[in-house]
Amino acid sequence: MRKKIVAANWKMNLTLIEGAELVNDLFKGMPQLNENNLVVIAPPYTHLTQTSAQLAGMADVHLGAQNCHSETAGAYTGEISAAMLKSAEVEYVIVGHSERREYFKEDDATVAKKVNQALVNGMKVIFCCGEPLEVRDAGTQNAYVESQVRAGLFHLGDRQMNDITIAYEPIWAIGTGRTATSQQAQDMHAHIRQVLAANYGAEVANDTAILYGGSCKPSNAAELFACPDVDGGLIGGAALKASEFLGIITAMAAAVEA
Ligand code: 13P
Repeated sequence: MRKKIVAANWKMNLTLIEGAELVNDLFKGMPQLNENNLVVIAPPYTHLTQTSAQLAGMADVHLGAQNCHSETAGAYTGEISAAMLKSAEVEYVIVGHSERREYFKEDDATVAKKVNQALVNGMKVIFCCGEPLEVRDAGTQNAYVESQVRAGLFHLGDRQMNDITIAYEPIWAIGTGRTATSQQAQDMHAHIRQVLAANYGAEVANDTAILYGGSCKPSNAAELFACPDVDGGLIGGAALKASEFLGIITAMAAAVEA
C-alpha cells in the first residue's frame, strides 16, 4: 500500500541557524505518525549534514535534497552529484521541479538523467510535473503532464518505480496563494495514476504515491489529502514555519486515519 507523504521543499531559504531552529521546533511539535505516514525535509545543500544529524532522533522524518546533477562526476563547477548526496545521508531527491525546468533550462532528457543518477545511487526520487497557466487555460493540462511523466519516468522498469514518488505541482499554484481546487487536484492525480496503470499495470499505479504541491497550507491540506488519489503534499512556503508545516503533517495523519 502506498504511504501518505508530506515533503518540505525549503528552496533557497533559511540560514544554517534558522534551519536548525525550524527542525528543532518541528521535533518538539511532531504528532504521532503511523507506519503509513512519512515526512521528508529537503533543505539547501549547505544544511544537509546539520539537518541529517538533527533528524537522527526522528524515525518518521527523512532527509531530502532539492536537486542533483545529471552526470556522475567531473568538471561541473558549483554542482553536486547524486553520490555526494548519498554520502550526506540523503534518502530522497526532488527532480524536475518547475523552477529548475524554467530558470535552469532543464529539459525532459536532463530530468530523466537526474532520475537515473538518484536511483543508481540508492536514493528515492520525488519527480515533479505540472503545467503552466496558459496550458491550464487552454484545457490541455492532462496531455502536458502525461508527456512530462512519460519522458521523465517511462524508461524505468517496474522495480525502479518502487522508488518513485510523483509530485503534481501546477505552476500557476506555486507561491501564488492560488491553490488548485481539490477537484482539479483529484482529476489530475487520477489521470497520472491511469497513465501509470496503462504503462506499468495496476499494482505499480496503486503503489505510487502522488503528492500535490502549490500553495498547500494547513487550511486546505485536509480537503486536498482527503481526495482518493492525493497522497500528501510537497510544500514550499508553508514548510518554512514550524506551526504551518506541523498543521499540514497533522492533516496527513488525520487523512490516513479517516
Ligand atoms: P508553495 O507551497 O510555496 O506554493 O511551493 C510549492 C512548491 O513548489 C514545492 O516544491
